Amino acid sequence: MQLAHRLTALAAALCCAAAAHAQGAGPIKVGLMLPATGTYAALGTAIENGFKLYVQEQGGKLAGREIQYFKVDDESEPSKATDNVNKLIKRDNVDVLVGTVHSGVALAMAKAAKDSNTLLIVPNAGADAITGAMCAPHIFRSSFSNWQPGYATGVVAAGKGYKRAMTITWNYAAGQETVKGFTEAFEKGGGKVIKDLNLPFPNVEFQALLTEIAAQKPDVVFAFFAGGGAVKFVKDYDAAGLRRSIPLLGSGFLTDGTLEAQGPSAQGLQTALHYADNLDTPRNNAFRKNFALTFKANADVYAVQGYDAAQMLGIGLSAVKGDFSKRDAMIAAMGKATIDSPRGKFTLSPSHNPVQDMFLREAVGKNNEYKGIAAKALADPGRGCKM
Ligand code: BEZ
Repeated sequence: MQLAHRLTALAAALCCAAAAHAQGAGPIKVGLMLPATGTYAALGTAIENGFKLYVQEQGGKLAGREIQYFKVDDESEPSKATDNVNKLIKRDNVDVLVGTVHSGVALAMAKAAKDSNTLLIVPNAGADAITGAMCAPHIFRSSFSNWQPGYATGVVAAGKGYKRAMTITWNYAAGQETVKGFTEAFEKGGGKVIKDLNLPFPNVEFQALLTEIAAQKPDVVFAFFAGGGAVKFVKDYDAAGLRRSIPLLGSGFLTDGTLEAQGPSAQGLQTALHYADNLDTPRNNAFRKNFALTFKANADVYAVQGYDAAQMLGIGLSAVKGDFSKRDAMIAAMGKATIDSPRGKFTLSPSHNPVQDMFLREAVGKNNEYKGIAAKALADPGRGCKM
């Protein structure tokens, strides 16, 4: 850790330790609901590691309060989501929920958080409604809305002069909403989406759909896949010979945390996302170094989002000197915060979604390298949100 960061952490710990001690406060109970199995398992691990890294950098406490973790493997399975989240809310009585990766599971979490008035920080899932129609003062997101990377990639595709696009994704909220964002920007920029292809989550039998792409010969293909499914899709697209004839663009999840497994099939792929591995800032460099030292793995966008979820909680707790009973003041501070993220500083929209730059990236070796800005300070419209 750099000296400046150590001193900040020490000051934060000293400031709030006395107040927390005076209250006789026990630990803050954090319920991590993330996938530990299935196609999104690695994403869940990266988020958990990112969250814990931030807490560790603050000396293992936030605002003088110990953090106690409770964990549930949500399996990225929406049908089990309500039961799973209730284990954390009702059985473990957590103070704050942190989760999850899959939009369908996160929608059930948001409903349970609203019903029980539990503080929720979403460290990945982009379901638009979470910071749209379902928004609430105690629901925050440290990641993105599905619309954001979709829209940014649509801007890139139109800017490259492509006119006819096909889209391909899993048939659930994340895929549908990302494609919707892509289509909005691409068609605004003069292009036309000629066909949307999809398959059920988490299926990876892409062959028939790839055959259809080859037959239609669009100028470009836009894809949303992530985790294990993204590895298989990128390899299959290459193996089908399509990379040579039809450019493939994606929201950045297509190549994030997956490049080693995708090998040569992913090299040179361009995507848009709110993070690039090689952002050359002291903040990102220190984060990546600490992450690699601690977990013997490279950080990715999921780790960043977990790290920033912990930062958001830390900012809220510091504002009330660790006194969780002052939850309204804590939530107000979180809503107004500027988060000093490895991705670059960001603020939250009125519906509590990050307002952030979306980068154009290119897969080079093990990194998604920064190529430029795809959309500056992009704010999700927060459609339907009434706080
Ligand atoms: C989602 O379900 O919202 C999601 C999953 C993986 C990566 C990005 C979004």
